[in-house]
Amino acid sequence: MALMAWDDSYSVNVREIDGQHRMLVTLMNQLHEATKSGCSNDELCEVFEEVIEYTKFPFAADERLMREIRFPEYLLHRAVHEDMKARLADLREQCENGRRSAVRSMTLQFLRDWLISHIAVEDQAIGRYLNAHAVVPDSPAAVSIH
Ligand SMILES: [Fe+2]
Repeated sequence: MALMAWDDSYSVNVREIDGQHRMLVTLMNQLHEATKSGCSNDELCEVFEEVIEYTKFPFAADERLMREIRFPEYLLHRAVHEDMKARLADLREQCENGRRSAVRSMTLQFLRDWLISHIAVEDQAIGRYLNAHAVVPDSPAAVSIH
């Protein structure tokens, strides 16, 4: 069973970013599954590397869009991304040390915080600002708003 499923209430109404968030949920679920399986520690770390690599996309897309629309809380939002990157680095270290149960519970907590606190609140604030101010940035991400 998946750790957590995508829900449309998480949508930020920007197609590119929603697509990346969905992919991240899938990857985090795979990571959680891997911590429970009989795979080797190297294999587990490989899944984890994939997650870390992928998180760069939604963070970068958010930050690019915020700069383009001159989002007033850009610096604050970027600081939250930095904090999440640090938590992921910590998780990677636990993974390398073979602490599966710690990785499992930290992944669960991270995913909850990230979906419920970050995506469903902070990322959605970007989409709302964009709509409220009818900003038309040059980015293809913003053009694909639905
Ligand atoms: Fe964000």
